[in-house]
Amino acid sequence: MAVLVLHGPNLNLLGTREPTVYGSVTLEQINAELTKLGADAGVEVKTFQSNHEGALVDRVQAARTDGTTFIVINPAAYTHTSVALRDALAGVAIPFIEVHLSNVHRREPFRHHSYFSDLADGIIVGLGHKGYRLALGHAIERDLASRP
Ligand code: DQA
Repeated sequence: MAVLVLHGPNLNLLGTREPTVYGSVTLEQINAELTKLGADAGVEVKTFQSNHEGALVDRVQAARTDGTTFIVINPAAYTHTSVALRDALAGVAIPFIEVHLSNVHRREPFRHHSYFSDLADGIIVGLGHKGYRLALGHAIERDLASRP
């Protein structure tokens, strides 16, 4: 089993970007924590961040043949705009959880709609960086439950 963790635009700035909204933990720290959590459970965790929609689409498509069995994705601003990324996830048909650090429903109305939520196995919003940990924990439990 391998989990792909995808981070959308501007999440490379985590730690310094609007810390009152997104917290002060960096993307490197989040990825390191997830990688360790996965390793402890015998699960490979691959991480990828891009500020480019096409690069994220390409990475999702590559997941079809690189052994990825589950995706954790924070599409960031593309949550609210990207039919292309939605179609990529639907196309590869790999189950995924959508994560948002902030509670998007408490924010501007344009953040209330997601192109991903109806396809997702689950959605975690507003729990900060802990949301990624919970999403990966779900993926690991799901995998353990499916082992013979
Ligand atoms: C976000 C919420 C989005 O609305 C925003 O564009 C982001 C981050 C979050 O994690 O809270 O970049 O996905």
